[in-house]
Amino acid sequence: MEPASPFARYQQLQSYVGWTDEDARRVQSLEPLVRPHFAALIDDFYAEIERHPDARRVITGGEEQISRLKQTLHAWLAELFSGRYDRQYVERRWRVGLRHVEIGLDQVYTNAALSRLRSGLLTVIEESRPELCIETLVVRRSLNILMDLDLALIEDAYQTEYRRRQRAADRLAAIGEMAGGIAHELRKPLND
Ligand code: HEM
Repeated sequence: MEPASPFARYQQLQSYVGWTDEDARRVQSLEPLVRPHFAALIDDFYAEIERHPDARRVITGGEEQISRLKQTLHAWLAELFSGRYDRQYVERRWRVGLRHVEIGLDQVYTNAALSRLRSGLLTVIEESRPELCIETLVVRRSLNILMDLDLALIEDAYQTEYRRRQRAADRLAAIGEMAGGIAHELRKPLND
């Protein structure tokens, strides 16, 4: 059986957690409130990476790469609040997991970084809407679900790519073993 496409998997997960168009509208309504804080949240994201050598070591391109990464994270945040969670959205998110395998990032740091980003966003919302009304709680819940879905997507891509690479390495090892066996047979004298 063909594995489901990333978008089909995402839709399954949306249905699992009960995501609706209303949730999408609620998250989108936060956009003007959170956007002015993106730059500070992004600076905090990378400052924290600097404090963790196992996370920091995958950034090999110095300041130039960090400034590129800051732009990609800005785009990622802007899309999170766009209210459009279509196939293109999922494909771009999927690439994050693939890239993280390529660079050898321990997946645990993605979880930690997303948790930190989530706290930062929720603090911004709390500070600008101190009244704890149902509306604020409901909008926070929608953002939490969306961020959980994003993490699931990145993890899904990461695991899929990780397993694919593992299988390719196993196949290569098996071919190597077989080639070694054949070479050994060829070297044996005929009357052996
Ligand atoms: C909330 C968690 C994270 C998000 C949303 C995120 C997002 C992204 C995005 C959007 C890309 C670009 C993907 C593409 O090429 O299309 C990327 C690549 C990358 N990420 Fe992450 N990331 C996260 C966590 C981390 C952490 C903790 C590190 C630790 C150093 C990290 C290091 C990198 C690096 C080195 C690349 C490759 C960048 C390049 O192409 O130069 N990421 N990530």
